[in-house]
Amino acid sequence: MTETRKPILAALAGETCQSPPFWLMRQAGRYLPEYREVRTRAGSFLDLCYNPELAEEVTLQPIRRYGMDAAILFSDILVVPHALGQPLDYLEGEGPKLDPVRSAADLGRLSRDRFHTVLEPVYETVRRLSRSLPPEVTLIGFAGAPWTVASYMVEGGGTKEFAAIKGWAYRDPQGFAALMDLLVDVTADYLCAQIDAGAEVVQLFDSWAGVLPVAEFRRWVIEPTRRIVARVKERHPAVPIIGFPRGAGLLYEEYASATGVDAVGLDTTVPPQWAARALQSRLAVQGNLDPIMLVAGGEALGGAVTEILEALAGGPFIFNLGHGITQKTPPEHVAELARRLRAWPQR
Ligand code: CP3
Repeated sequence: MTETRKPILAALAGETCQSPPFWLMRQAGRYLPEYREVRTRAGSFLDLCYNPELAEEVTLQPIRRYGMDAAILFSDILVVPHALGQPLDYLEGEGPKLDPVRSAADLGRLSRDRFHTVLEPVYETVRRLSRSLPPEVTLIGFAGAPWTVASYMVEGGGTKEFAAIKGWAYRDPQGFAALMDLLVDVTADYLCAQIDAGAEVVQLFDSWAGVLPVAEFRRWVIEPTRRIVARVKERHPAVPIIGFPRGAGLLYEEYASATGVDAVGLDTTVPPQWAARALQSRLAVQGNLDPIMLVAGGEALGGAVTEILEALAGGPFIFNLGHGITQKTPPEHVAELARRLRAWPQR
């Protein structure tokens, strides 16, 4: 029997749990008043990411309120380019801004020399959390996948069209591959360092996987992910890896079989009944409530949760959102969701 295994780890090992374990992407954040208070005290968002005491505190806040089965390290995917020396700022209301990397010359200005030194406070946050978390709660580390991190590095921030990164990748795939190879290397290293510090599971966020045509999806999403998974597994074969290729659509199946991940995160658009047949027979799945259902609450939320549970709770499954929680989410709706999940399978 496996009663001693933490629920998230059981699901990731392929077990079906009585009531599915859950956590929520971006579960720490601005929808919580206690987050906003610490965020103000920290100064800038990056100051918060690099302050182990405060980052530990905001990681624990949603666990205290709602009792999720996993805590995700509080940090951001863009600390990786920052630790490579790319200037980064978060502008209020505008999101991240970086000095774009668009050529071999720009790439030459990045350096791995201070990578782990800059990220040491993140590792310290993980060490603190692995001591302070309740014993049944799983600690998840994370990184952005190379394609998504590169999109911010090349575009210089968020983008709707991906014109600069696609332009580079399509016109000069070999030159662009130098950036992607660097990201594969440092991301594998970064995840291993989080595991050494106490992360029990790691997730790769590929939020912009869904913008590529099929050949480029294979080259810039599947292949880099496969290489990172292989490197992390070489050093830490027992640590489960969750891949989240948001927007992968029909390519979810190929991503799931070709990358070597232990579980896939489903975005909001994936039909859960399809995922049960096509994916869950092979690996654990995670997802995929529309974050706006959590803003809506009430009957809409209840119906959407039931549909997902009916389709997926009969196999290895972690309940989550299909994308990050939004700032306008009423905290009491998250409490309502937690109650519904804990009551399952009662009718
Ligand atoms: O899940 C968690 O609670 C852990 C923390 C976490 C954050 N970002 C905190 C954050 C995680 C896992 C991320 C991942 C992340 N960051 C992704 C991948 C997931 C996704 O949502 O697609 C991406 C693309 C980023 C890059 C990023 N960071 C953007 C685009 C922004 C601005 C968004 C906004 O709402 O302003 C951030 C900032 C950020 N990262 C915030 C938080 C809590 C808000 C910053 C603040 O408090 O002012």
